[in-house]
Amino acid sequence: MSRPAVVIGNWKMNMKIKETVDFIVKLPSMLSQSQGRVCLSVPSTLLKVASDASRGTEIEIGSQNVSQFESGAYTGEVSTTMIQDSGGQFTLIGHSERRMFYHEDDEMIKEKVYRAILGGLAPVLCVGETQEQKESGQTEKVLLNQLEKAMGSLNENEASAVIVAYEPVWAIGTGHAATPEIAQEVHSVIRGFIREKWGEKNAFRTPILYGGSVNPDTIKELIKMPDIDGALVGGASLNVESFAKIVNISRETKS
Ligand code: 13P
Repeated sequence: MSRPAVVIGNWKMNMKIKETVDFIVKLPSMLSQSQGRVCLSVPSTLLKVASDASRGTEIEIGSQNVSQFESGAYTGEVSTTMIQDSGGQFTLIGHSERRMFYHEDDEMIKEKVYRAILGGLAPVLCVGETQEQKESGQTEKVLLNQLEKAMGSLNENEASAVIVAYEPVWAIGTGHAATPEIAQEVHSVIRGFIREKWGEKNAFRTPILYGGSVNPDTIKELIKMPDIDGALVGGASLNVESFAKIVNISRETKS
């Protein structure tokens, strides 16, 4: 038995209403029939239009961030309830761009993961080391620390809601994806962490996605790795043809 492929497009701060509808109208007929999940992580302004456009299709819609608070005086923030009200089913948490540009720290990311679970949204927890940390041999230590802080205090049931995305910061937007061997090694460390904390069942079921310069070429070898269950795709998810190719290659390799 293998895990079905999960591919999430992260549109970041791109796309408008008409482009969103066009993309979502085109995508379903381009997808292969093999099993697997296909998800789009869209800007908050597009949650409603994207979820309306994808109704009746297999496309799942989610957000790129969520507030750690339930509601109230938090200008500019978006809550779990608002995301669900607009049709969102999951949210990215702790993307390296949020850690870097908006100073999200481990404590805040932990609160967001917990809030998402409490609010019924699947958290896609993003972890990854910087170039500097990689060069000084700290990859494993950095990742285990990020994982422990963000999700270490969850119980088995809560932890089973989490999707983990390994996104090495040095590979994001650079055109240089991690080699399949390096990514596999890290994914197996992540799965080992889950196994040790919550047992084999959670370890087997948790999707662990790779992100960082995934495109229709780089996905081919990455997705053959046993612990790489799919991809979190930035730039190449903005084009429906390249995104569909990534989804199809992933599905066919895993099924
Ligand atoms: P790219 O695919 O553009 O490298 O971005 C990866 C990413 O940050 C997805 O969350």
